Amino acid sequence: SKGAAMVTAVAQRVTARRHQVDESLSSFRLSRDQLRSVKARMRAGLEAGLKSNSHSPVKMLPSYVFRTPDGTECGKYLALDLGGTNFRVLLVKIRSGLRRSVRLYNKLYPIPLEIMQGTGEELFDHIVHCISDFLDYVGMKKARLPLGFTFSFPCLQAGTLVSWTKGFKATDCEGNDVVDMLREAIKRRNEFDVDIVAIVNDTVGTMMSCAYEDPQCEIGLIAGTGSNVCYMEELRNIEKMQRMCINTEWGGLGEDGCLDDIITEYDNAVDRESINHGRQRFEKLTSGLYLGEVVRQVLLDLTRRGLLFKGRVTEALKTPGIFETKYLSQIESDRLALLQVRSILQHLGLDSTCDDSIIVKEVCGAVSRRAAQLCGAGMAAVVDKIRENRGLDQLNITVGVDGTLYKLHPHFSTVLQETVVALAPQCYVTYLLSEEGSGRGAALITAVARRDQVEIDA
Ligand code: GLC
Repeated sequence: SKGAAMVTAVAQRVTARRHQVDESLSSFRLSRDQLRSVKARMRAGLEAGLKSNSHSPVKMLPSYVFRTPDGTECGKYLALDLGGTNFRVLLVKIRSGLRRSVRLYNKLYPIPLEIMQGTGEELFDHIVHCISDFLDYVGMKKARLPLGFTFSFPCLQAGTLVSWTKGFKATDCEGNDVVDMLREAIKRRNEFDVDIVAIVNDTVGTMMSCAYEDPQCEIGLIAGTGSNVCYMEELRNIEKMQRMCINTEWGGLGEDGCLDDIITEYDNAVDRESINHGRQRFEKLTSGLYLGEVVRQVLLDLTRRGLLFKGRVTEALKTPGIFETKYLSQIESDRLALLQVRSILQHLGLDSTCDDSIIVKEVCGAVSRRAAQLCGAGMAAVVDKIRENRGLDQLNITVGVDGTLYKLHPHFSTVLQETVVALAPQCYVTYLLSEEGSGRGAALITAVARRDQVEIDA
C-alpha cells in the first residue's frame, strides 16, 4: 500500500543518514594496533626530547626538582597559579611533624581575554595587581613571603618561556624570563615585596602535592584545558641526586607530522582556527580547550550535509568555543535523558530533534573516547619507560592527576585507565586525584627548594 511504501522510504532515509553519520565518526575510532603505534611514537618523542640539542616536538624540560616531599617541609608561602581555567593567588601554610598538614587560602581572579592576548607588561601588571589585592585581603602586605609560581607553560630552567600554549599569546614574553618580568612588575607597583623562589609547571605541582600523601607518586598528569605529563627520570652517575622531574610537554607530539595518519579533517580545521596553528597537535586531540571545537567541526559538517539540525547552519553552531568541557561532560552523562540533552543544546542555542540529540551525543562520545585513549597510549609509554629505566619486570607507581576533563567527564578517566592496562600490562598504576594541586604543589616545591638550598649552603 501507499502508506507502507512511505514508511519504508522514511526508514530507508533514516538508515542512510545513520550510515553517513557512522562513516564520519569512524575516523575517530582507533584500533588496538593504532594505539600501540601511538604509544611507540610517544616513546620515540620522549627519547628524542631527552637528547641534548634536539628540537624534538616533545620538549622534555628539566624541572630541577630532585625529590618529592618527605613531610618535613614547613612554613608560610605565597603561591600563584597561572595557565589553567583561572588565575589564583594562594597563601599556603605547611606544618611538619605530628601536626603535619597543608592549609590554604585562595582567591580566584579571572584574566580577561584582552589581557591574555595583550602585551606581556600588561599581563604581569595585572598579575601583580591581583597579588596586591590578595595581600590586602589576608593582611600580609608587610611580610616578605617566599613565592612559588605555578606557570603552566613550557619553561626553561630559570623561567624562560619557550612558547605560549592554550589561550595565551601576550607579546614580548616568549624567549624572556618570566620571573624577571614578574619581579619588574612588582617593582613598578612598589607596594610590597616577595622572594620568588621557584617557578613550577602544573604537572610538577600536581605530582608533588600527591607525593606528599603517597610517596609512590612519581608522575603528574594534567588532563584539563591543556594536556601534559611530568615524571621522575633517572640521573645516571650522580649519587647525590638520583632523579630529576622532567616536564615532558607531550602536547607537542605530532608537530613534525608523526600523527598525521590519525588526524582527521575536523582536527585540521580546529588547528587552522587556533591561535597556534601547527603547534601542540597531541594537545589538540586530547584536551578540554579543543575537544568541544572538534565536536563543533563535526556537527558543522553533518549539518552542511543535511544530516543534522534540518540542515540549518545557525550562528550558534558557527560560534567557536560554545562546547565547553562542562557541556560535553553533561551531554555524555549516562544518567541524562535525551530530553535533557536537548535542553542543554537548546541552552547553547541549538534547536534539536530527538534524533539530532542522539547524534550529538554520539559525536561527543567518539571525540572524547579518542582523547582518553590517546592520553592512555601516552601514559603507557611513560610508565613503561620508567619500568625499563629501573630494570623492573613489574612496576608499581602512582600518578597524581588534575584537570577538569579527568575530574568532570563521566568516561574519560575510565577509558584512559583501561587503555594503560591494555598497553602497559607490566605496570600497576594507581591514580590519585590532586586536591588544589598547583597551589599546594608550588608551596611544597618552594619549601623543598629552600631546604635543599640551605643544605647546599651549609
Ligand atoms: C599546556 C602547557 C603545559 C601545561 C599543560 C596543562 O600543554 O604547555 O605546560 O602543563 O598545558 O596545563
